[in-house]
Amino acid sequence: MRVALKLVLATVLGTLAVLIIFGWVRARKEIELFDLDMRRDHLLVGTTLAVCVADEWVVAGQARAMQLVRQADEERQHMRVGFVHPSGRQNEVAPGRVPQRSVVNHLENFVMADPSEPNEEFLVSRVPVHGDKGELLGAVEICERLGIRDEFVRSNLVGTLAATLAMVGFSGMVVLVMGVWLVGRPLNLLAAKAQRIGQGDLTGALSFTQRDEISELASEVNAMCERLAEANARTQAETTARIDAIEQLRHADRLITVGRLAAGIAHELGTPLNVIAGRVKMLRRGTVEAEVGAEYLAAVAEQAERMTVIIRQLLDFAGRREPRPAPTDLRHIARVIARLVEPIARKHEVQVEIAAEGGSAMALGDPVQLEQVLSNLVVNGIHACSPGGKVRITCGTEPAFGGDRNDPPSVGRRAYLRVTDDGHGMDEATKARIFEPFFTTKDVGQGTGLGLSVAHGIIVENGGSISVTSQRGMGSTFSVFLPAVAT
Ligand SMILES: Nc1ncnc2c1ncn2[C@@H]1O[C@H](COP(=O)(O)OP(=O)(O)O)[C@@H](O)[C@H]1O
Ligand SMILES: [Mg+2]
Repeated sequence: MRVALKLVLATVLGTLAVLIIFGWVRARKEIELFDLDMRRDHLLVGTTLAVCVADEWVVAGQARAMQLVRQADEERQHMRVGFVHPSGRQNEVAPGRVPQRSVVNHLENFVMADPSEPNEEFLVSRVPVHGDKGELLGAVEICERLGIRDEFVRSNLVGTLAATLAMVGFSGMVVLVMGVWLVGRPLNLLAAKAQRIGQGDLTGALSFTQRDEISELASEVNAMCERLAEANARTQAETTARIDAIEQLRHADRLITVGRLAAGIAHELGTPLNVIAGRVKMLRRGTVEAEVGAEYLAAVAEQAERMTVIIRQLLDFAGRREPRPAPTDLRHIARVIARLVEPIARKHEVQVEIAAEGGSAMALGDPVQLEQVLSNLVVNGIHACSPGGKVRITCGTEPAFGGDRNDPPSVGRRAYLRVTDDGHGMDEATKARIFEPFFTTKDVGQGTGLGLSVAHGIIVENGGSISVTSQRGMGSTFSVFLPAVAT
């Protein structure tokens, strides 16, 4: 319910309760006063009449005295005046109302119901009449309907009730208007403002002409909005500055990479070029024997071949084609590569094996690119091993981070391809740089430092990731993760 309505209801109910109690007390008081008044009236009329009747009885006889009573009865509309003999017998000229009740020698008041009007009650007063010798002649009886009193009280009560209702209605209206104006309207504005703040709109300060707790609350809300807006602006500025800083760092990082790339290219191509230039110079002098010349030419051809390999890998790195992802069986890729690296493995006396793991090994990826990645990883593993070492390829699907092991392969699962070797492993410094282009720990002519950076680029472009765990002297494991495909 609205606050203003609640206020009105509380005011109306409170006022009503007070006025009802007050009216009830007043009605009781009025009834008492009315009774007292009636008795006093009866006493006054009764004693005056009793004296007159006694005098008339003595002077002019009983009949005249009764005449006097009858006259008194006719003059009064609200009361009935009569005369009763000491035995309680009614006087036939001026009869009282109470049948057969003997007269006592003193003033008497009682309430009785008339048998002819059972719903009415009467107040009856009897004043004894004495003769000149003090003997009891009878009693003047005055009888009045109590209904008059009740009517009077009722009409009084109705008047009071009407006035009360009018008063309560009017004060209710006043409280309603004031409540709506002073409480309901400002609270509505405050609620709307709070809603706007919740939606992030901090504009539109509240201003009330009234000076009370609500206006104080409104100015607190305004101040809060200002502070929030300031904090927002500060956060915005800080975020922008942070983004700028990150952008600058990225730029610097790119420059470093480009520098390393250039240095790497210079180094990698410089060495074979030096060899070629040296041998060609000697051949041009013409002083070389035919046999040695043939050796020189073979060296030139070998270095040119080496340069071609480097340039091809560079092209792979720089101008990779767009991946064409398709459902690919990783087990098949593993078999193809194991066969392909067989001669290198034999040369290094290293055993390459495919570990059989149950379940599907279907991944979404470009099969040609995945073959390239796996061959880079396996050849690295072979190079890391001493003779008699082992390189193991495993593949399958597993629950992805946050997934459930009972989910179907495509939901919450990922495909993996792992290459584990028991070779020399890597220290932390090496591990931190292996994905950089041209980073190699191998001798000149042995490694180009491009294999892992190419592998990394391919896997990322295929929507996967690559990671390594390794310790010096403890072997290494390279893990490639790709989206799984339901089978
Ligand atoms: N299985 C492995 N065990 C130990 N070191 C590794 C392994 N694979 C890669 N590396 C390290 O990472 C470097 C970079 O590898 P890569 O990018 O393939 O270039 P390259 O093989 O031509 O050196 C290697 O020189 C070697 O130091
Ligand atoms: Mg390599």
